[in-house]
Amino acid sequence: MIKYFNIIQALSRSALITPNEAIIHQIERLKESLEKDGYSKEAKSLEGLLSSSKGSLEMSPSKIQQSFVMAGGEKLTVKTAIPVDKETSTPLAEIFFPENLPLEMPLFDENIQIAIQSIVNEWMEFDKLLEINAIPASSCLIYGVPGSGKTHLAKWIAKQIGMPVVLARLEGLMSSYLGTTSRNIGSLFAFANKYKCILLLDEFDAIAKLRNDPQEVGEVKRVVNTLLQSLDSRHERGFTIGVTNHESLLDPAIWRRFDIQIEIPKPSAEVMVHLLKKFITPLEFEDSEIKFLAWCLEGSSGADAEMLSKWLKRTFVLEKESSIISVMKQFALLNSGRVNLVKRNIMLHNDEDFIAMLLNDKTYAFKQKDIASLFRITPSSLSKQLAKFKDSEKI
Ligand SMILES: Nc1ncnc2c1ncn2[C@@H]1O[C@H](COP(=O)(O)OP(=O)(O)OP(=O)(O)O)[C@@H](O)[C@H]1O
Ligand SMILES: [Mg+2]
Repeated sequence: MIKYFNIIQALSRSALITPNEAIIHQIERLKESLEKDGYSKEAKSLEGLLSSSKGSLEMSPSKIQQSFVMAGGEKLTVKTAIPVDKETSTPLAEIFFPENLPLEMPLFDENIQIAIQSIVNEWMEFDKLLEINAIPASSCLIYGVPGSGKTHLAKWIAKQIGMPVVLARLEGLMSSYLGTTSRNIGSLFAFANKYKCILLLDEFDAIAKLRNDPQEVGEVKRVVNTLLQSLDSRHERGFTIGVTNHESLLDPAIWRRFDIQIEIPKPSAEVMVHLLKKFITPLEFEDSEIKFLAWCLEGSSGADAEMLSKWLKRTFVLEKESSIISVMKQFALLNSGRVNLVKRNIMLHNDEDFIAMLLNDKTYAFKQKDIASLFRITPSSLSKQLAKFKDSEKI
């Protein structure tokens, strides 16, 4: 009898209470080594443990997935070595632990928020659903316009589930040698499958974009195939979130690999108001002022709202007496891509047209008194201006 074998046996028995492939594989290796070294009695004893645990695995297939998706995998720590590109030593991923993930869900229209919350609830109750064999989705593709909060959303989902995020770093993953790219994709997925984590493939379209290069068609196909196989391998191992701005560039086969697809639209007028209020804190603005800012940013993204809020904070801290109209004009002048183009042109053209456009806007329905206060004029002089404006229209 080998010294300490009774401890090895007890360890194996405990590990096999919740078996997974990795544990079975290691115990099989141990059994084979024992056999090779002539410890046949000990090897037989491990074999007995293995066969009864395999039996229990086969009897409850849902439990296998449960152990893979929710409990399976090793624990990621700050000390875990991250895989790197063998040629350049660039890391293939970055790890975010739950304490560094955002606590607040991004702001979206209510229907989207409810839909997202329902996926998160499913993922949080994964075990319960598996018990009744209702296997929830384990992968999700988030797509939509730039700066709409997609990456923030993916990280928030991970925070809710309480798992660390393995964020794929495309600059590390993509190599000028496509063969290396395939190998890197393989290493990334092997790493994610080994640990208990959420794999986040941000800016996922970068891989699909490669397809446009006619010189490399064969090689690119291999990269896409590796990705497809990797996504398949991931399916029962853990959660995967893909994020892209260019969903149309994604290969349809890749698209199909995701159980759920969420489109994040541009913020509505109502959401834009909430975003501005959130980002502008601790500064305080009147509701009519916030509504005006939202009007200027119609069709822009949440990231634009964040940028404008920072701009306002800087300006109002340095120049307390600034008028919101003049600050907004400056912003429009220096951030041409962030402000609605038609509005920007009129805003910078002359105040009469600017005021007329605000008054005629049906969605925002500004009141005359609010416009007067925005332009720092009295309601009576606003009325006079309007009368002048109407007269000139008659001519
Ligand atoms: N709907 C939103 N709610 C809250 N914050 C938002 C929202 N949209 C954008 N933001 C903020 O704007 C910034 C950019 O967001 P994020 O990086 O998540 O956008 P993205 O859609 O991933 O952009 P890109 O397509 O450029 O990668 C972040 O600071 C984020 O918090
Ligand atoms: Mg992003």
